[in-house]
Formats: sequence, structure tokens, C-alpha cells
Amino acid sequence: MKLDGKNILITGGTGSFGKAYASYILEHFDINRLIIFSRDEQKHYEQKRAFAHWSDRVHFVIGDIRDREKIMGVCRGIDIVIHSAAMKHMPMAEENPMEAVKTNILGSQNLIDACIANEVKKVVALSTDKAALPINVYGGTKLILERLFMSANSLSEAKTIFSVVRYANVFGSKGSVIPLFMKLKDTGELPITHPEMTRFSITMEEGIDLIQFALNKSLGGEVIVPIAPSYKVGDVAEAVCASCKKQVIGPRVAEKMHEILISEFEAKQTIKSDGFFIIMPEIGIKREEYVKHYQAEAFELEEYSSGKNSDFLTIEEIKKQLPR
Ligand SMILES: NC(=O)c1ccc[n+]([C@@H]2O[C@H](COP(=O)([O-])OP(=O)(O)OC[C@H]3O[C@@H](n4cnc5c(N)ncnc54)[C@H](OP(=O)(O)O)[C@@H]3O)[C@@H](O)[C@H]2O)c1
Repeated sequence: MKLDGKNILITGGTGSFGKAYASYILEHFDINRLIIFSRDEQKHYEQKRAFAHWSDRVHFVIGDIRDREKIMGVCRGIDIVIHSAAMKHMPMAEENPMEAVKTNILGSQNLIDACIANEVKKVVALSTDKAALPINVYGGTKLILERLFMSANSLSEAKTIFSVVRYANVFGSKGSVIPLFMKLKDTGELPITHPEMTRFSITMEEGIDLIQFALNKSLGGEVIVPIAPSYKVGDVAEAVCASCKKQVIGPRVAEKMHEILISEFEAKQTIKSDGFFIIMPEIGIKREEYVKHYQAEAFELEEYSSGKNSDFLTIEEIKKQLPR
């Protein structure tokens, strides 16, 4: 989608994804107005300095998506919203479940209401593989976010199109295993949950492509999933430090051995197009319309699990992606 002349809001615009996406669209499009929305003043201050050459177009707004009145005002005159703000650290959400509910569920509903009231044209939310058959608080709250977005389409009377992208670990992102291993490699010992534990992997650039695909194509209510390679945690440890001793500590509480991007139940509702899977909603637009719109390709899928993936990164490929 051409974003020239558009007014865009990124919730969580100071986070890893938000910052990368903001830079991408400012470099590639003649954006009219970009609002970066999040809470921490320091992150805003640093990003404002880094974005100084775009200061005529970018506005840094401090606020919390839990604040309904604030988000209602911020959405005024906005064409497109990318909803990236979230509580995303799994152990923190386990220890503080209500905080995750307030941000990931209630905050998302505030945003939905604000987008409908202000007749925003397109809204894309970022979800996670942990939302498929969730076993932890983070995944559970993101599943509800997905369902809120699906149902928002029927409330908006087609004035606002809501869709979701569900993706996996961004390679090397904050809180993932890679920065931890990089930090510990000089100690000569790496703690690994399980050498055979697997995860899907996407790069930040692929994450940005996914959002662009959703903005271009979404009809409303769908969950768009990238087709991505997997890696084994043991192979990442080898790639970071082959000579290090590997201490197996076992999976953390509420952590799966293999992640699922599409469950076997959702597979029945899934079509494939242009290198993406699209999970169609149970409510709203009819299945045939999605099939026609996306020019769906024939394929077979029982479940899309990182453990049963046909594409695994080799140790050499992982090495090439490691931060220098
Ligand atoms: N990183 C991954 O591997 C990955 C994988 C799958 C999905 N995702 C999803 O992608 C999104 C972005 O992830 P990320 O890695 O960029 O996370 P991140 O670096 O932690 O960024 C999160 C952003 O949200 C803001 N935020 C948090 N709570 C907020 C609130 N209540 N109100 C307003 N802003 C709030 C944070 O800033 P303040 O704390 O200053 O408010 C920050 O700007 C999240 O929705 C996450 O669930 C990430």
C-alpha cells in the first residue's frame, strides 16, 4: 500500500519493532504525519534525537493504551494504525497476569473503540505464535486480542478494516535467546533449555514485509502468518559458541518444546497466498470472498509447528544472522 500522504499511528512505536517499522516507512514513503505512542519518556527522548531529520513529520506522544480518553484523542485524523504496544515478556506476564490483561486486552479494546469512533481506515495488530493453543498468560492475552480484532470488523460496519499478523521470534530481538547467549559466551558456559527445543524465526525485514502485506491485502478479520524457517536451540548455542559447555536447564514454566503458528483447528480455516498463510475468521466475510481476493493456492497443512517444519536453519545459516 502506498503510504504517501497518510497519517499513521504506531502504538509501541519506541519498541524494537515500532522503531524499525517507523524508520522503514519514513525512508520509503512521503508520510504526512507519524505518531509514535508509548509510555517511557526516555525512549521517546532518544528516538526523537535519532529521528531529528524527520522532525517535521514525526510526533512523539507519551501515553498508555490503558488510557481510553488519551487513545481516543490520538486516533483523531489518523488513516492507519499499527498496534505493536504490548506486555510481551512471558515470565513477567505469568507473575503479573492482570497487568497483561490490562495492556494486551483492555488496552487493545480501547484502541479498537478509538479507531471505530475516528473512522480509521486500516488497523493491523501484532500477535505471536504463543497465541496458537496458548499455555501461558502472554499467549492467552494475545489470543483474546486476535478475537477482539476479528469481532471489531463486524462492529465497524466496514468503515475500519481490522486484521492481525501472527509471527514468531524476531531473530536476535530483546528477550530472545540470542542476546543472552552472546552475553554469556565469554564465560565458557551456555544454559540451554533443551537442545531439541525449536522455534520459528523471522528477521525484522520479514516482519516489516508482513505488515506491508497486511496493509495491502487485508479484507478484515484475518490472521496473517508468514512462512518461516525453524531453528533448534542447541544449534543456536553451537553457532554462538561451539567450544562452550552447554548446561541443559529444561524448559521454563509455561514454555512449549515446539511453537505452533497455526493449530490443527485453524489449519482447516487457512488459505495460502504469496508466501503467507491466511487464517480466515469464523465470523464476518464469507470464506469464498477471501479465497477469491487472495487468489488462494492449493496446499496441505495439518498443523504449522516449528518442530515439524520442512525448513530448518543450519548452524552456518544461524551464524550468518548473528549480530556482529
Ligand atoms: N519480539 C518478538 O520476537 C515478537 C514476536 C512475536 C510478536 N511480537 C509482538 O510484536 C510487538 C512488538 O514487539 P517488540 O519486540 O517491538 O516489543 P518491545 O521492544 O518490548 O516494544 C513494546 C513497545 O510497546 C510499548 N508499550 C508497552 N506497554 C504499553 C502501554 N501500556 N501503552 C503504550 N505503549 C506500551 C513499549 O514502550 P513503553 O514500555 O515505554 O510504553 C514499547 O514501545 C508486540 O506486540 C509483541 O507481542 C514480538
